[in-house]
Amino acid sequence: MSDGHASGAAMEPGTVISVETRHSSGFHHKRPIVLAGGEGAVVWDAQGRRYIDCDTGHGLAILGHGHPAVTAAIKAQAEKLLTCGESFYSEPRARLYAELAAAMPAGLDRFFLCNSGTEAVEGALKLARLTTGRSRVVAFRGGFHGRTFGSLSATWNPRYREPFAPLLDGFAHVPFNDAEAAAAAVTPEVGAVLVEPVQGEGGIHVATGGFLARLREACDSTGALLVFDEVQTGVGRTGAFVAAQRFGVTPDVICLAKGLAGGVPIGAVAFGERVGEVPRGAHASTFGGNPLAAAAAAATVAIVRKDRLAERAAELGERFLGMMRQLAGEARVVREVRGLGLMIAMDLKTRSARYLQALQDRGVLALAAGPTVVRLLPPLVITWEQLEAVRDALALVLMEDPPQ
Ligand SMILES: Cc1ncc(COP(=O)(O)O)c(C=O)c1O
Repeated sequence: MSDGHASGAAMEPGTVISVETRHSSGFHHKRPIVLAGGEGAVVWDAQGRRYIDCDTGHGLAILGHGHPAVTAAIKAQAEKLLTCGESFYSEPRARLYAELAAAMPAGLDRFFLCNSGTEAVEGALKLARLTTGRSRVVAFRGGFHGRTFGSLSATWNPRYREPFAPLLDGFAHVPFNDAEAAAAAVTPEVGAVLVEPVQGEGGIHVATGGFLARLREACDSTGALLVFDEVQTGVGRTGAFVAAQRFGVTPDVICLAKGLAGGVPIGAVAFGERVGEVPRGAHASTFGGNPLAAAAAAATVAIVRKDRLAERAAELGERFLGMMRQLAGEARVVREVRGLGLMIAMDLKTRSARYLQALQDRGVLALAAGPTVVRLLPPLVITWEQLEAVRDALALVLMEDPPQ
């Protein structure tokens, strides 16, 4: 690479692709476009082609791109102080705590801040171990909780697990939405029951209220902690600030990440009385609670609350799901439509990859969730007209067989 590129001179899109291809780890599937900018629910590539963004970096851009409040918060904090570890107090962190405490279910008002979803899950598993002294964990088939060793042990998909065996002992995977099987698995040796209220990577499978309520009962009777992994469902996505509020079931711990700082890396573990006092020094993160991320997150949560974006996600999501179900009735290739709020899947009778490509060619970015699913995670600020344009693009590609 020339010095010019290293020092920040503009790179041609072809150069970006070849340098990334040469030097990146190689773990990621790539689509051959260079994203260069965005505003609201729209992103554009380096050639100026515009896309309605229902990928949002796997659900991160919850307020869309370039939200002025988030940009202003980041700029202001960058000019003041970029780093302040947890050994000191910091105003952006305090703002974030105050916003989060007001948004979360009553009683979940203490937080451990970290940098990603997998770290939030690791934090929750450690809190469960500290609180209960027990090492067994009940997780669910189809569940995804991250890729570090603890969270990977709770993740179900053998494709992610097998290359890294042996994983941690003591993790059981029970059928999702099978209340009685789950209750039977929550023995007195179990320290945590870890569940996504809507399974995201597993294909957008929505829990039933009865299933989650039964998990609550089972944990109450055995002393296990009920942990909701809301890394993907949190921050308004499913139509409440956290899905727990939509289902009316309050867990002991909630993991957040993805959209929490509008796209800036962050993770958080929320907990309350059941966890109680934690031993100082037992867990930490050098970057956790970073002022830049905390400022972005405080601004994001404030906007989600002030603009009632969770309510908006509930309303738009319901209308959009109705439209998708109508489309499914007309397109033979669709097996099922599933979703809650603005977390939506079209499960196809065939592999989804070429449909995702065809959608991209028609100006819509969507993502997979398993081999046959087209998943849509639009920003909560997407307009109804943009959702109609997504429907029109989907109608076109689903009616073509195979898509061009
Ligand atoms: C429910 C859930 N938990 C945990 C994770 C892991 O998050 P991260 O990739 O930030 O580590 C994800 C990521 O997709 C997720 O969807």
